[in-house]
Amino acid sequence: MEKVVLLFLLMLVVVPSAFADSSQKLEVQRQLKNLNRPPVRSIKSPDGDIIDCVHVLQQPALDHPDLKNHKIQMKPNFHPEGHPFGESKVSENSKPITQLWHQNGRCPKGTIPVRRTSKNDILRASSIQQFGKKKERSFPQPKPEKPLSDLSIQSGHEHAIAYVEGDKYYGAKATINVWNPKVQQPYEFSLSQMWILAGSFGKDLNTIEAGWQVSRQLYGDNHTRLFTYWTSDAYKTTGCYNLLCSGFIQTSSDIALGASISPLSKYSSSQYYISILVWKDPKDGNWWMKYGSDHVMGYWPASLFSYLSDSASMIQWGGEVVNTESDGQHTTTQMGSGHFPEEGFGKASYFKNIQIVDGDNKLRDPQALGTHSEQDSCYNVRAGSARDWGNYFYYGGPGRNPNCP
Ligand SMILES: *[C@@H]1O[C@H](CO)[C@@H](O)[C@H](O)[C@H]1NC(C)=O
Repeated sequence: MEKVVLLFLLMLVVVPSAFADSSQKLEVQRQLKNLNRPPVRSIKSPDGDIIDCVHVLQQPALDHPDLKNHKIQMKPNFHPEGHPFGESKVSENSKPITQLWHQNGRCPKGTIPVRRTSKNDILRASSIQQFGKKKERSFPQPKPEKPLSDLSIQSGHEHAIAYVEGDKYYGAKATINVWNPKVQQPYEFSLSQMWILAGSFGKDLNTIEAGWQVSRQLYGDNHTRLFTYWTSDAYKTTGCYNLLCSGFIQTSSDIALGASISPLSKYSSSQYYISILVWKDPKDGNWWMKYGSDHVMGYWPASLFSYLSDSASMIQWGGEVVNTESDGQHTTTQMGSGHFPEEGFGKASYFKNIQIVDGDNKLRDPQALGTHSEQDSCYNVRAGSARDWGNYFYYGGPGRNPNCP
């Protein structure tokens, strides 16, 4: 009798968890099947990634309910006036770069390169549903009545950024120095990016984001990778990194989102950069992205957004890290190169030639560039302007140090 009761109790305990296990497995499989489309060709990258060349019409983006009848655009109707990246000169010992997987092949025309998602990628997320999404807002919350310096750092996100606000913006660009900052804890990250923003922080914020990041949670390693992000509801339910949900429509067959960037800058040695331009096509309202001087990556359809279907109200450029203070002290996660702006070229990381796209679709220097950092002694930012570099800033820092305990 006792044995029977025990067995029954045991079943009560074991059966539901076994059920949860198998339903989790099914959910992971469903996500993998949805994200990893049958490739025309696959390329193994030296960093362990598999890049699948997927037919452009098979990309997950086109599954979005609002994009069911979307006719994919292969080219923008319009390009902002100005010379986006013509000013970058190799002679200053600062070079543009490519992607690591290019060492082992390229994707054929009519396909797009997609970083294959593994089971482990999904299992590292805080929940399966959370995979590919940001947990919370990840940058300062300026409110009209409050200066940026008033911002709380409760969330553990720390920044060193430059920004413009107070006008209507139709795009932004930057040339971003690329480094491999050390990230201390698995759930911390270090990134350098630009944000195109409209709406209210914490409520209905629309963002388009692009840059480079080191994120062990997202990719399982410490490589520096190209990324994009978008949301239309302040990170609550919409949006994701790269192609990890339907939204961004990729047209480039050359550059993979989420792929490792190579080579990287070294302290007092060769410097490398990426250039990113995002602009709104005035004809159909889609937001396009260009990488380097000749890779049109694709676009965020206007229908994804509310405020951004008109224009942006703020642009930010700079670095962000997560400080979990896991050992009771400030994290040692680095931002930028891990060195303070004061060290200058070849040592500190920079953004240069930062510009905005104005209402006449012209690239212009930002007016009244502001800067912001929560804890100057951990990560800092110094802006300036010069003839070759246009508007620029150095940013970053080592995190924990004697002045940032
Ligand atoms: C990433 O870097 C951290 C900190 O430097 C290190 O502890 C960890 O082993 C690295 N992880 C991988 C997968 O290389």
